[in-house]
Amino acid sequence: MGSGREGPAVSLVVLLSGPNLNLLGEREPAVYGTATLAEHVARAEATAVRHGFTLEHLASNHEGELVEAVHSARGRAAALVINAGALSHTSWSLHDAVAAFEGPVVELHLSNPAAREPFRHTSVLAPVADGLIAGFGGLGYELAVDAVAQLLKGAP
Ligand code: DQA
Repeated sequence: MGSGREGPAVSLVVLLSGPNLNLLGEREPAVYGTATLAEHVARAEATAVRHGFTLEHLASNHEGELVEAVHSARGRAAALVINAGALSHTSWSLHDAVAAFEGPVVELHLSNPAAREPFRHTSVLAPVADGLIAGFGGLGYELAVDAVAQLLKGAP
């Protein structure tokens, strides 16, 4: 029986989805494709299971709820994958929360923000993430989980 004071569950990867991603499938399909968020999460989950990890997903349109989800991942999850939507470009509170997370962090985007409007060219999460996967659509959800799995297994 556990003492309840163990360190991070090596097996848990937390995936966070920010504002408006709940509309995927209907929202700007020319930019984001026609797959729903549930379909992307299923891809991430299948990849996590293939690597022997468990995936927990939270989607929220509220900045504070995402900040609290990062807090709740601390000491419990081994890694974070975050598509914070437009909060990626603006949220210093999410930046600070992610900075306080101990494990690997991958920033994820369906589109390639660097190839879009100027306001999307800056990510405030980039300085506190280990890396960025962007522009590969739904494939990015698999690549992001592959990346954290490799990092957790000690790959450089
Ligand atoms: C996005 C890119 C962001 O610029 C945008 O605000 C989103 C989606 C992406 O996945 O491509 O909501 O994070």
